[in-house]
Amino acid sequence: MPPAPRPVPQDYVPAFFPKRQGGARAAGGPEEPRTSIVVVGHVDHGKSTLIGRLLADTGSLPEGKLEAAEKASREEGMPLEYAFLLDSFLEEQAQNITIDTTRIGFRHQGQSFEIIDAPGHREFIKNMVTGAAAAEEAILLIDAQEGLKEQTRRHGLLLSLLGVSRVIVAVNKMDLVEWREDRFRALEKEIRGYLGGLKIIPRQVIPISAREGAMVMRRENRHLAWWSGPTLLEALLSDAGKSRLSSDGPLRFSVQDVYRFDARRVIAGKLESGRIRVGDPVIFFPDRKASRIQRIESWGEDTPLNEVGPGQSVAVTLEEQIFVERGHVAALPDDPPVESREVRARIFWLDTEPLRLQAPVTLRLGTQSVEARLVAIDRVVDAEKLEAAKDTREEVARFEVAEVRLRCRRPLVYDSHDRVCATGRFALQRGSRIGGGGIITFAEYPASLAKAVRGEHLTWTEGRVSQEARAGHFGHEGAVIWLTGLSGSGKSTLAVALESLLFRRGIGTMVLDGDNLRHGLCADLGFSLEDRAENIRRAGEVAKLMAESGLVVISSLISPLKKERESVRASCHAAGISFSEIFINASIAECERRDPRGLYQKARKGEIKGFTGIDSPYEIPELPDLILETGKEKVAESVERLLTHVLNLVRLKEEDREGAAGPGGQI
Ligand code: ADX
Repeated sequence: MPPAPRPVPQDYVPAFFPKRQGGARAAGGPEEPRTSIVVVGHVDHGKSTLIGRLLADTGSLPEGKLEAAEKASREEGMPLEYAFLLDSFLEEQAQNITIDTTRIGFRHQGQSFEIIDAPGHREFIKNMVTGAAAAEEAILLIDAQEGLKEQTRRHGLLLSLLGVSRVIVAVNKMDLVEWREDRFRALEKEIRGYLGGLKIIPRQVIPISAREGAMVMRRENRHLAWWSGPTLLEALLSDAGKSRLSSDGPLRFSVQDVYRFDARRVIAGKLESGRIRVGDPVIFFPDRKASRIQRIESWGEDTPLNEVGPGQSVAVTLEEQIFVERGHVAALPDDPPVESREVRARIFWLDTEPLRLQAPVTLRLGTQSVEARLVAIDRVVDAEKLEAAKDTREEVARFEVAEVRLRCRRPLVYDSHDRVCATGRFALQRGSRIGGGGIITFAEYPASLAKAVRGEHLTWTEGRVSQEARAGHFGHEGAVIWLTGLSGSGKSTLAVALESLLFRRGIGTMVLDGDNLRHGLCADLGFSLEDRAENIRRAGEVAKLMAESGLVVISSLISPLKKERESVRASCHAAGISFSEIFINASIAECERRDPRGLYQKARKGEIKGFTGIDSPYEIPELPDLILETGKEKVAESVERLLTHVLNLVRLKEEDREGAAGPGGQI
């Protein structure tokens, strides 16, 4: 039996229960569910006035504040400036503000809301992507007089990139356009069109005047009699219960800290999604250690809880003491997250200095922080014009959006953003600066781990030598370089040349050649599509094992179908191995002209049946990591490009080398 738990000491509480401002939480009480809102819009479109108005109308200002402000304005003979209300409210809280976000709470008709305010784009993105302040709902403000501005468009884009899909558009300052319906309708059309292009369908587009208090809480029946839709607060209320933090979502519990009390270890963290109950089996990623929840405590609660839901920060105790640390994520066995070193994402870059291919960055996702590199830029979209760049790009510049692939030094635990938003978005940090953020667009989920857990513990034979240690020892990482292309396209020539160039540079390497494998490991296989699938599966498994041992494996197989190539990629990624697909591109005519072994000739005569490119398919890779045009460029050029690509992939940077040799890299 574990010793009786002691009360949670106050001094560690702030570490994992971030202080919140505003009235949404009774002092010391448990957090209540609330809807987080971000108000975005062009600087002059009335953000502060709207927030001040929301606070004043819902009676959420500190006592006496509104009266004092009213008195002061009366004395000056000026109308009450709601923006100043917000300013003085914030000033009062200034001492409490520890992060660069302000959270302003208000309540209306039994529902709690929290406005997240950040001084600028960068802070907003930083908070959104790190989850420090994740908005579920956005109010996009447009000035009725000024209309859509560049900044409005950029904000819309930002919301779509960060996955905030619940958007209310408030067309503000209606009083300045004589409350005209035609002006409102024209703007509504324009903004709906723009947001539609970003796949955002605003829940409501509402005419308001924050200064006059029209259609915020109070209906404005005189000037806006033509408006039969909801007020802003009605619109917020109508969706308030439907938090994006869905309790039906898979359990994701991010570990923030682990505290020791006598023999007891308390794991403090946040439920990013899902629920946990006492007795639940849980698995902590990335190490896949299994245990059960023994006890759940929450700040301010005297008695332990039986069950907690999403958004809550709690401290749990496990039945068995397993090694868990900050950055780990717990999940239920039947609904695990992805654990991989590869990340496909859509990023938004903010830093003036572009993000270049192969450049090191720190990827921060929840409480995880891992070193990563940008290994591919698949598509770049200009945030202003919303147009895809036509040329291939080696960098992502400021305010650009890009579909990219990142590679982490250690496995990252994540979800695709559309499945679990909190564990599907991240920040990219360069030095101490946040350079940009992103959302994860693709995830290969592992099968349920439930069976493994039912037999009590997971039987996982953990390798004694870590991949980092191996890489540190050899001076490079293992990888699978998968050459695919038609027979005669030049795969073997390039593979052999690359092998010797790598070897000369001290890199452990080995070619796996399709023809050669067919003499041994795959001697029982022919050329039907089924046999080819099995051929590729075997070659892929062998390549992965060899890469795990630290080698750079160069495979040279036709591998004609996408499906099989993708499964090799998935299998490598699941093992934390880099996989690079290299398309050796030469037209069928060119290959036939070369025909080094006279096979095309035989195939044409019908002496070989099911020959790739003649009467058996070859599917061109959609997103290869590199394309070598052997029909157009010289062999030396292709080899040079291939070598550079592979060296970038497997070579350790100087600091990596030190890191790998340091304590983390010890055997
Ligand atoms: S794969 O399709 O299963 O990936 P693999 O690369 O192992 O093929 O083998 C291709 C080699 O087998 C060719 O380079 C050629 O020498 C030989 N071969 C014999 N018959 C065929 C065929 N029907 N189609 C393609 N290659 C063939």
